[in-house]
Amino acid sequence: MLKNEFHILLIDDDEDDFVNIRDLLNDVKSSNYKITWESTYSGGLKALQEKEFDACLLDYKLGEKTGLKLLEEAHKRAFTYPIIFLTGLSDFELDVQAMESGASDYLVKSQLTYPLLERSIRYSIKLAYDVEEIKKTKAQLLQQDRLASLGLLASSLAHEIGTPLGIIRSRAELAEKKAADNEILKKDMTIIVTQIDRITKLVNSLLHLARGGKSEHVTTVDLDLVLEDVLGLLEHEFGRKNILLRKEIVPGCRVKAETGPLGQVLLNLLINALHAIDEARKIDVNHLNEVTLKIEPLENQIQVSVTDTGIGISEENQQQLFKPFFTTKDIGQGTGLGLATSLGIINSWGGTISVSSQLGKGTTFTFLLTQG
Ligand SMILES: Nc1ncnc2c1ncn2[C@@H]1O[C@H](COP(=O)(O)OP(=O)(O)OP(=O)(O)O)[C@@H](O)[C@H]1O
Ligand SMILES: [Mg+2]
Repeated sequence: MLKNEFHILLIDDDEDDFVNIRDLLNDVKSSNYKITWESTYSGGLKALQEKEFDACLLDYKLGEKTGLKLLEEAHKRAFTYPIIFLTGLSDFELDVQAMESGASDYLVKSQLTYPLLERSIRYSIKLAYDVEEIKKTKAQLLQQDRLASLGLLASSLAHEIGTPLGIIRSRAELAEKKAADNEILKKDMTIIVTQIDRITKLVNSLLHLARGGKSEHVTTVDLDLVLEDVLGLLEHEFGRKNILLRKEIVPGCRVKAETGPLGQVLLNLLINALHAIDEARKIDVNHLNEVTLKIEPLENQIQVSVTDTGIGISEENQQQLFKPFFTTKDIGQGTGLGLATSLGIINSWGGTISVSSQLGKGTTFTFLLTQG
């Protein structure tokens, strides 16, 4: 994680301090430090807000306001920079106050040496990084917790509505057969069956999505066979939409997974790719229409990626993609469960899935599974 080039913001109203600190940091041989100096409270706050820094050195006395006030303001605005407090005098109470306001460290200016300053900056940056990692893990745990309660809900829902749905479906199928001469009734029955299948699919997605933890049904799956099924379902759609499906597939790959859910993940990704190209075509009819499915072994894993030349995904949406019910599609077009379910499935086999995308250019989803 640690690099050796750091951009430091110094907020201090005394130019002599700036010169001293700049010279001290120039003496550090192991790393390069670039310093931006702000001499006022408002200038400092603006710089913190608008620019990227690795750490901030903050003077206790800042004209009419104190550095402590700025420190409190920075924390109110949830800035995550490590902030090191500088003061002219050694004062235990001030030290405690700074710590309680969220300062990473407290240094007395007259005692500054370059090793002390360098060490304080390095430790503060590492500490801020660790705190961010802990926050991320906490957010992930919270998400898992939500998924677990969703799982309970989904499984009781599946149980409660599964039986009546099955009955409605078989009756509708029966009525469809009986209505051989009545075209309108027959059509209505077909619609009922299709819609019931949609509900069943949704409930199954919720179950997959929420099952969390490790799957107990992992077997060795032949990717070629799964692909045969999935591509059999989609090849017609690719042809109809005039989209080229490139296959860069190393044959004979086997993974630790489950056949049905693995097919579902591939279907989700390929259908999303088709939709993304449809969207791009709405903007430019001559848009390049290509989806590449790549499968290759890497050491003891198999890497599968689906790349499209579609509309791409904004940075903001990339953060949301895997959340249940996140969709940009119109009502009735997408439930926003495809990727959330895929993530749940892949994770249950100990695999990982990631995305890289560029707006207007296209997207690649990649998942990694253990070789079977
Ligand atoms: N290949 C892609 N290119 C561009 N955007 C994508 C791509 N894949 C997913 N997305 C975006 O992510 C959102 C969520 O995808 P996800 O598959 O989870 O749900 P959905 O496709 O909207 O609905 P469904 O539940 O029917 O799959 C999509 O609505 C779309 O905005
Ligand atoms: Mg989808």
